[in-house]
Amino acid sequence: MRVALGADHAGVHLKEAVHSLLQSRGIDVHDFGTVGEASVDYPDYAAKVGRAVASGEADLGILACGTGLGMAIAANKIAGVRAAPVVDLESARLAREHNDANVLALGARVTSPEMALQIVAIFLDTSFAGGRHQRRLDKITALDNDRHC
Ligand code: RB5
Repeated sequence: MRVALGADHAGVHLKEAVHSLLQSRGIDVHDFGTVGEASVDYPDYAAKVGRAVASGEADLGILACGTGLGMAIAANKIAGVRAAPVVDLESARLAREHNDANVLALGARVTSPEMALQIVAIFLDTSFAGGRHQRRLDKITALDNDRHC
């Protein structure tokens, strides 16, 4: 499995913790930055990670900013990306099982590092359930194809 990682200045320390977790699991990590605490713009990192996932270069993406919201909003502008901002364990499971989310967005200012790492572990360990959920995903893909931009 290949995972693309990205964060802004608010999420950079959480990103490092996620990076370590992924490495400890033997996962191939492509870290798009940021490095350090200098202020940067989260859409730039959402775009890098989102494009890596949408192109198939990465299987999954994980983003971190202050709330996870801006990263998810930006990443979801990229066709093929299904980014889920997640703050609890049940949503982490359902984001994969029902929505086949391919990008996880974490909020370092709203979620403790311990909780965030548990969310990541569940996100990685849960598979898409398919069945009736596939029909709904197909409708989301159709919305991607309808975009005029
Ligand atoms: C940066 O201050 C902050 O706005 C950003 O990390 C994120 O929370 C946006 O959604």
